[in-house]
Amino acid sequence: MDSLLIKGGVPLHGEVTISGAKNAVLPIMAATLLTAEPCVIHRVPDLSDVKFMGEILTSLGATVSFNGGTFKVQTRKIKDVGDYDLIRKMRGSVCIMGPLLGRLRHATVSLPGGCIIGARPINLHLKGFEALGAKISVESGYVHARARKLAGADVFLGGRAGSTVLGTANVMMAAALADGVTRIESAACEPEVVDLANFLNTMGARIIGAGSPTITVTGVKTLHGAEHEVIPDRIEAATYALAAAATDGEVTLLGARPDHLHAVLDKLRDAGVKVARNGTALTVSRNGRLKPVDITTLPYSGFPTDVQAQMMVLMTLTPGISIITERIFESRFMHVSELARLGADIEIEGPSAIVKGGKPLSGAPVMASDLRASAALVIAGLAARGSTQVNRVYHLDRGYEDIDGKLRRLGARIERVEET
Ligand code: EPU
Repeated sequence: MDSLLIKGGVPLHGEVTISGAKNAVLPIMAATLLTAEPCVIHRVPDLSDVKFMGEILTSLGATVSFNGGTFKVQTRKIKDVGDYDLIRKMRGSVCIMGPLLGRLRHATVSLPGGCIIGARPINLHLKGFEALGAKISVESGYVHARARKLAGADVFLGGRAGSTVLGTANVMMAAALADGVTRIESAACEPEVVDLANFLNTMGARIIGAGSPTITVTGVKTLHGAEHEVIPDRIEAATYALAAAATDGEVTLLGARPDHLHAVLDKLRDAGVKVARNGTALTVSRNGRLKPVDITTLPYSGFPTDVQAQMMVLMTLTPGISIITERIFESRFMHVSELARLGADIEIEGPSAIVKGGKPLSGAPVMASDLRASAALVIAGLAARGSTQVNRVYHLDRGYEDIDGKLRRLGARIERVEET
């Protein structure tokens, strides 16, 4: 197993190109199962989750190739039974259910269990499939969805923490090949949902309203092959912006979408970080002293839960008290105990973390627990004095393309070593 060894205290400087969005590309790859014709997807990040999804598609009968950021896929004949061990390993694979149901009228996936950031149920996905006419059953850890006929319907996807991103994707994909009109209310508004809808429309689907809480899908008989470029990863962009601010450097993000980053950029400015925009290039540096800010994670266009851990690191470096409240996932504070090893002073009170910031961090060995927690630990290591070893880097490789290479090119002293 690899770990990252970081010698901290070096301000990051230079330019970094933002990769394609992990959370957009996974459902888009799944959507290619909806057609027997070839699909070509560009700006695909080289991530272990992408590799996994490619293997899942292959196990369902697809022929795939991945070269230089371009993923080519064709599923002439689709199998109804994939490699369930593979499907079980990656929670994001739940989004193959919608396409399987749409194309085959039945789908079986292993029931995704809880994960380190919370219970992560799929009740809303299943509610959507039922509304379209599917019968749902759970047997021996597998969820089966079967429909003699898929018919458009009104589907309400609001849940405890707002809508569901992959649930909206799943219902949209199944509804694309249903008979009649489906209206999804309380749909997720995330840019990744819009990117998927754009891809589906290029395949011949009839979807309007993506990006708003009401999405209307008029079912069509078949979908055809399509070519698409994935949106840039707003979470990766935010992560590098926070690394620049935390190390008191100056980094230009190339190819980001500032219009997907309003909530993060707004909080960065409140925290005393300068963000200068030149087209799609964003240059991030500190603007005098850092100031504490309070943050609550919310569905888009609110502050993203996927940036909560990284923002917490900046607040540990900021004199004063910041309160960070997590409203999307119930146990997404696994990074707090690891940040404490570097000297951070953070208390958890219910859904909130109270950060008493301003003390300098000093390097220590830490353990990555999930993708974004790991990114936070890397930022903390870059800002800390001395050496930090971040273990279990495979979490980072799920969602950040070439993170150590990109950081090294920004001047970070970081190397990948065998875990000791
Ligand atoms: N929820 C339900 N029932 C459901 C589905 C979700 O109650 O059927 C709840 C969840 O427990 C959670 C909330 O609704 O409290 C939101 O979950 P959502 O379904 O939107 O999450 P997801 O679609 O499973 C995607 C991203 C996550 C990101 C969330 C929220 C992918 C592959 N994953 O997950 O990304 O945090 O949306 O924005 O798109 C990450 O990249 O690190 C990551 C975890």
